[in-house]
Amino acid sequence: MMSLDRCHNIQDLQRRARATLPHPIYDYLEGGADDEWSLKRNTSAFDNWQFLPNTLMNVASVNPATRLLGHKLAGPILLSPTGMSRLFHHDKEFAAARAAERFGTFYGLSAMGSTRIEELADSSHGLKFFQVYIFKDRGLTREFLAKSKQGGYQALCLTVDTPIAGNRERDIYSGMTIPPRPTLRALAGFATKWRWLAGLAKNRDFFIANVADRLNATERGTSSIIDFVNKQFDPSISWQDLEWLASEWDGPLILKGVLSPDDARRAQRIGVSAIMVSNHGGRQLECAAAPIDCIPALRDAVGNDLELILDGGIRRGTHVVKALAMGADACSIGRPYLYGLAAGGEAGVLKALEILQAETIRTMALLGATAIDEINQSHLVPVGRLVAQPPS
Ligand SMILES: Cc1cc2nc3c(=O)[nH]c(=O)nc-3n(C[C@H](O)[C@H](O)[C@H](O)COP(=O)(O)O)c2cc1C
Repeated sequence: MMSLDRCHNIQDLQRRARATLPHPIYDYLEGGADDEWSLKRNTSAFDNWQFLPNTLMNVASVNPATRLLGHKLAGPILLSPTGMSRLFHHDKEFAAARAAERFGTFYGLSAMGSTRIEELADSSHGLKFFQVYIFKDRGLTREFLAKSKQGGYQALCLTVDTPIAGNRERDIYSGMTIPPRPTLRALAGFATKWRWLAGLAKNRDFFIANVADRLNATERGTSSIIDFVNKQFDPSISWQDLEWLASEWDGPLILKGVLSPDDARRAQRIGVSAIMVSNHGGRQLECAAAPIDCIPALRDAVGNDLELILDGGIRRGTHVVKALAMGADACSIGRPYLYGLAAGGEAGVLKALEILQAETIRTMALLGATAIDEINQSHLVPVGRLVAQPPS
């Protein structure tokens, strides 16, 4: 198996993750809804744009640092909230949060994570936000808010693209459950994954840590993610819930899963600080628009007072730079850091961030930009169209 030193891009980390993880767990990480059209489109939509570089720009020093939600980041890349990191590595969310801290960016802890809000707060002193879903048990949301405040989380994030579960057919075929219970069919997929199996001796925290105590014995038992979401999440979630959350949380509030300019404007009026322009990595509404295709209209709709984070499809530094050129303030990654987590725990997550950061810096230099705020739409030309003459 390829060592981390020999992983030169995100695809190398993906290959290593695939070789490490039992097949149902890899499919849970990788999969999208229905035919995975949105999943593929999130990345391929970047190919509609080509760069128009400026030359002779003195790029001896290129600085990818930026500011987001009032904090300085080492680069324009965040770690998106993802559920059940214990599936991928025994150091679970701690490893990802520590890597984000070492790199200098935000880590998003998911309400579906396998680590408690307060445990992560005690072990990581980096930037972090907590991502909530609205459960039918509204008391849980109040508990999340109180713990996030107490734990010093810099921001809160509400995900709004999951009123019900998306149709992730890979999980249905593989029989993926939480905790994982290999069926006879899936047994072979677990049996040969020695590195992953060795992690079982370290811990078996395969539960949704911030929710587990509130579930009754039947609810705590083995279930598919789809069943869990459909039983526990409240599909009646509405704008009133966002208003309520905004009135209860006095720090920066991020709304995740918005693609429509109308929704963005409405959220802005309620007082949201940032929007994660996202279709949940193609795991929820199949055929939802690719985030990169939504950025220009969203930027026009909200002006410069609301921060836009492109979330979904980033696999290269060129994707990061294209997103910034279209009007995003930063980008967020899910699968790329999870590949790193599966491939090598904290070091693997850091490797994913470092790969994307190095590619971003190289792209900026070759584009003739020495700082993030120098990247703009003049650096992009739609593929298939001739470069326009400047007005004389
Ligand atoms: C395994 C996995 C679990 C996820 N769990 C959550 C979650 O609990 N909450 C959430 O808001 N988004 C979740 N997401 C979506 C990510 O936050 C993010 O939107 C998506 O991964 C971005 O697309 P990318 O993987 O192409 O970077 C999850 C994504 C993956 C791959």
